[in-house]
Parts: sequence; structure tokens; C-alpha cells
Amino acid sequence: MAYTDAGEGPAVLFLHGYPFDRGMWSEQIEALGASGFRAIAPDLRGLGETVAPTSVGESSASNHKLESVPLSTMADMARDAAALLDELHVENVIVCGLSMGGYVAFEFVHLFPARVSGLVLAGTRAPADNEQEKAARFEQVERMLAEGMKPIADASLPKLLAPKMIAERPEVVERVREMIERSDQRGAAAAQRGMAARRDYTVDLTRIGVPTLIIVGREDPIRPVADAEFMHRGIRNSRLEIIEDASHLTNMERVEVFNRAISDFVRTCGAVARP
Ligand code: MLT
Repeated sequence: MAYTDAGEGPAVLFLHGYPFDRGMWSEQIEALGASGFRAIAPDLRGLGETVAPTSVGESSASNHKLESVPLSTMADMARDAAALLDELHVENVIVCGLSMGGYVAFEFVHLFPARVSGLVLAGTRAPADNEQEKAARFEQVERMLAEGMKPIADASLPKLLAPKMIAERPEVVERVREMIERSDQRGAAAAQRGMAARRDYTVDLTRIGVPTLIIVGREDPIRPVADAEFMHRGIRNSRLEIIEDASHLTNMERVEVFNRAISDFVRTCGAVARP
């Protein structure tokens, strides 16, 4: 499993969204790593530099049937992250997941509650997909297997970033585009199928006892403010931060605001940083 491990101190586990990789967390890794925390950011299975443990589509290179695409479940990804922490001899973490990373964070806290001292849920939601949403995912899987990642980048960029960002920050747009386009299409397809198969995390909300920070971009059409408010109502020990002029990728769009929010938060999780 490819990962970045930077800094010393209480550990923060960063779980990226789809179809991205740990590159999306560069600024958070740098900021927390330099301020008394240990930032650990894996590439989740099949994405970035982490190959899926199953031979994704190997027997079906010319067969784009969905059934031939393995499934990377959110629980698989959470177990991979736990195995990485074992390897690094890290017992306890603050888990920070964005979007798909948020689903993985839900699974992580469900499977390994004793290992979690705090939770950051950014641009994500608790309910599972409805049938229409699942069908849209399957359509996207077929498209990416047939045409590659470029059409996926073209279609999703206007939703991932706020209009102001798209107009004024071409370097951020380019970074996100590159990240999507360098994703392995079969690994991304397996993750997309895994998201379609994910369970409903609504039942987990009241069971989450650790301090939780919920972050959402004011202009996020993918996981809008209402989704964040729903999680905030369900998780008793939670705080809600709405980031203005931001869409789905709040951490890349409003780096300073996002970093301030998580830095303040991690200091309240029983994690003691260097003065
Ligand atoms: C993500 O950014 O990880 C995805 O938009 C999540 C999703 O499709 O549900």
C-alpha cells in the first residue's frame, strides 16, 4: 500500500475521495506534519499507487462487463488502512475522510472503535445510495472502462470545484484534473462499485462517541450542506463547519480555512501536539 507518513506526534489518518489519491492531502500533510502531528495518508486500494489486491480485470482486458470488475468495498479499504497502521505501530488515530474517504471513515470507526480518538467527516454523507444513484455509478463504471478517465474528469470538475475556483485558480483545476486522469480506470471502477454497495451509515451516527468535526463546502452540489446537517444532528459530539466559496474539494479549494478547522479540532481530541 502506497502512503505518506510525515511528522511526529498524535496521528491523523487521511482518507482520500474518489477517484483521487493521497495527493489531494498535500497541504494538510504539510501543515499538520509541521505542527506536532503525524499525518498518515494512504492511497486507497486500486487508486493512486496502490494496486488493488485482486487482479482487477486481468482476465477480462477486452471484456468490459461489470461483473468482471472486482469490488473494492469501503470496509476493505478501512481494513487496509488498519493494517497499514499496524505496520507503522500506530494504535490510535484521528480519522479524517473526505467524501468516499468519509464512507471509509464510517467503516473504520465501526470496525475499530477503540482505535479512533476523533473523526473528521468532510463532503460526505450517511445514507446509502438509492437505486437511481446506483444506476448512475454503474453507468460511470461502464464509461470509464470503455473510454478512460478523461470524460470522467470533464464531467465532474464543474461539480468538484466552486465556480470562483474554476475561474480564478487554474492551477487547482489542473491538479484535480491530473489526479483524476492518472487514476487507474479499473481500480476506480472497483471503488465506484464499492460505493454503490456501501451500507447505510445512518444507524452508526448515534453510536459515534468521539469528537467529530463535520466539514462541508457551501456550494457543494455532490454532498450538499443538508447532508452535513443530517450527520451533525445524528452525532451528538459533533461540530459543523460550513466553508464559504467552496464546493466538494474543500481542502484543496480553501486550504487555510480547512487547515485551521482541522488543526483547532485535532487539538481538542485528546491529542497533544508539540507547543
Ligand atoms: C468522492 O468525491 O469521493 C465521491 O464523489 C463520493 C461519491 O461519489 O459518493
